[in-house]
Amino acid sequence: MTKPTLVLLHAFPVNSSMYDDVRDPLGMLCNLITPDLAGFGEAGLSESEPSLDVLAGDLAALLDQHGVGRAIIGGTSMGGYVAMAFLRLHPERVAGLILADTKATADSPDARANRLAVADQVVTAGSTDALARAMLPNLLGATTQNSRPGVVDRVRGWIESAHPEAVAWAQRAMAARPDSLDDLATFEGPALVVWGSEDGITPRSEQAIMRSELVDGEFVTLNGAGHLSAIEDPNGFVAVVSPFVTRFDA
Ligand code: MLT
Repeated sequence: MTKPTLVLLHAFPVNSSMYDDVRDPLGMLCNLITPDLAGFGEAGLSESEPSLDVLAGDLAALLDQHGVGRAIIGGTSMGGYVAMAFLRLHPERVAGLILADTKATADSPDARANRLAVADQVVTAGSTDALARAMLPNLLGATTQNSRPGVVDRVRGWIESAHPEAVAWAQRAMAARPDSLDDLATFEGPALVVWGSEDGITPRSEQAIMRSELVDGEFVTLNGAGHLSAIEDPNGFVAVVSPFVTRFDA
């Protein structure tokens, strides 16, 4: 029996290390690919105009390199936006979808303007330290902030080590993204929507919108996790993703 391929795309402004704690258990069930998106982690900066379609194109090229035609495409937050861009551009390559702590709606004009301002600020500052201070309280749930200091330190380290140009590029790309509601509505494969109950960035209502668009979707909540559920509650994340992935074994 061939193992399915699962791609997990990371959130902003961290990197693929956010999946370190789920890599071994999920890797036993599937061919797991957790790339760094352009400019983050080990990946070089993109020279293209900022667009999530560029990241979706990078993913298509990566799957080609691995000899993978179709895969389960999953992502957390920004990674989910990229998964939905990939679905729009390459629907025939999407066997299933995992959308964790993300949303299918586009930004409001205010949110877009804020992203562009943050992009300019980090480039001017040449540092992401202030961004880490501003984002951490929202990025991680109260339970993690109060009882998982190691997780807080790891996430702070990833943000502080992010390249300011990568942060700016990603903010501009996210600001330009369209909504993905029609893409979800026309996707007929299985989809899993995962949400941390303490997610202060993508509210439950956004998960409900995605779930209601999906033909074959299920929605699970991880209690006590925030926006980065895979690092805040790796056991819970594995527990909900594993049965979903094994549906693709046959
Ligand atoms: C993320 O975690 O990827 C970000 O919160 C996405 C966003 O800024 O919309």
